[in-house]
Amino acid sequence: MKFAERMSRLGTETAFEVLARARALEATGRSVIHLEIGEPDFDTPAFIRKAAAEALEEGWTHYGPSAGLPEFRKTIADVWKAERNIPCDADNVIVTPGAKPIMFFVMMALLEEGDEVLYPNPGFPIYESVANFVNARPVPLHLKEENGFDLDLKELESKITSRTKLLVLNSPHNPTGSVLKPETVEGIAALARKHSFHILSDEIYARIQYEGKHLSIASLPGMAERTIVLDGFSKTFSMTGWRLGFGIMEKALAVHVARLMTNSNSCTASFIQRAGQVALTGPQGEMHAMVAEFRRRRDMMVAGLNRIPGVRCLVPHGAFYVFPNISGTGMTSKALATALLEEAGVACLAGTSFGAHGEGFLRFSTANSLGNLEKALHLINEYLSVRAKV
Ligand SMILES: Cc1ncc(COP(=O)(O)O)c(C=O)c1O
Repeated sequence: MKFAERMSRLGTETAFEVLARARALEATGRSVIHLEIGEPDFDTPAFIRKAAAEALEEGWTHYGPSAGLPEFRKTIADVWKAERNIPCDADNVIVTPGAKPIMFFVMMALLEEGDEVLYPNPGFPIYESVANFVNARPVPLHLKEENGFDLDLKELESKITSRTKLLVLNSPHNPTGSVLKPETVEGIAALARKHSFHILSDEIYARIQYEGKHLSIASLPGMAERTIVLDGFSKTFSMTGWRLGFGIMEKALAVHVARLMTNSNSCTASFIQRAGQVALTGPQGEMHAMVAEFRRRRDMMVAGLNRIPGVRCLVPHGAFYVFPNISGTGMTSKALATALLEEAGVACLAGTSFGAHGEGFLRFSTANSLGNLEKALHLINEYLSVRAKV
């Protein structure tokens, strides 16, 4: 079979490959601590599961509108207006099966061949992959450890050209856990207004922020019309397998994205949207407890990593990852990630899974119990100490 040329431009997410390798090791009887995959280890709260079961019983089992159920779109708009100060109403919201399709559809709808997309590197690999796929030109912005992995406004300005069409932001950030400083967000908005480019603001971790209050760039004057906010239920409500996300965008773009939904998925599952509605309007206590637990794990993990020779780790302010610098071990990210899995039984991701500027780093997800994280720290320390003596 001969495949279309565009398939050679499509990337992937290494996390799924590492998970497969870890599972293969487990099948041979080895034990592995899973710190590779970016999904909360908590069950979806019972009241959300119950809402889905009730919706099924009530008959929410048919096609719905491609853009999403009207009441759900309105609830999302109301909550995001109140919580994040984003001026929007139901017509600005498009519901999708997970948040990932928003990246895909927005790039499909906005980018011409050769348009430039600025994106964070290290960063979520799908931004670069989809930009390449639609024949745009991805341009990396280097998030540096010495800058707390904040975006460097000078670098951003130096990379803006007449072809710059879109800037991808992700705060809190995967994989570094950094949160854009308010003055950085203001500076980016000023550049977007001056050079007239759009922003894809991936805010999927916005409710998992430990310090400060999340600032959406879409809330700044004149920014809602040039920003697409990407968000969803996977992380906040521990609903990765349900596939429920959405985008908030200018109405004219929303019409195009809804048409892409009609052409691909038809709609997002109706009973799942009903459960999403209840998730947003129901009691939020369990979600707060989950964030508090992630915070305890972060503190323990950062302290533990900083005690390991050759490793240093900044304190992430959001999301549920830690991103230690491991260059002091003398190993590359890939070599160390592979060795930790094969020899120590700890699955994690090489920083390079998030782009070339991730070299020298590893990403550990803290979506595992405190006990297992402690065990993992012990195994990593043991592996590196033995190796240091060889
Ligand atoms: C930064 C970021 N954006 C988006 C997503 C996609 O989330 P969803 O499960 O809603 O498609 C992820 C998931 O790992 C992510 O880390």
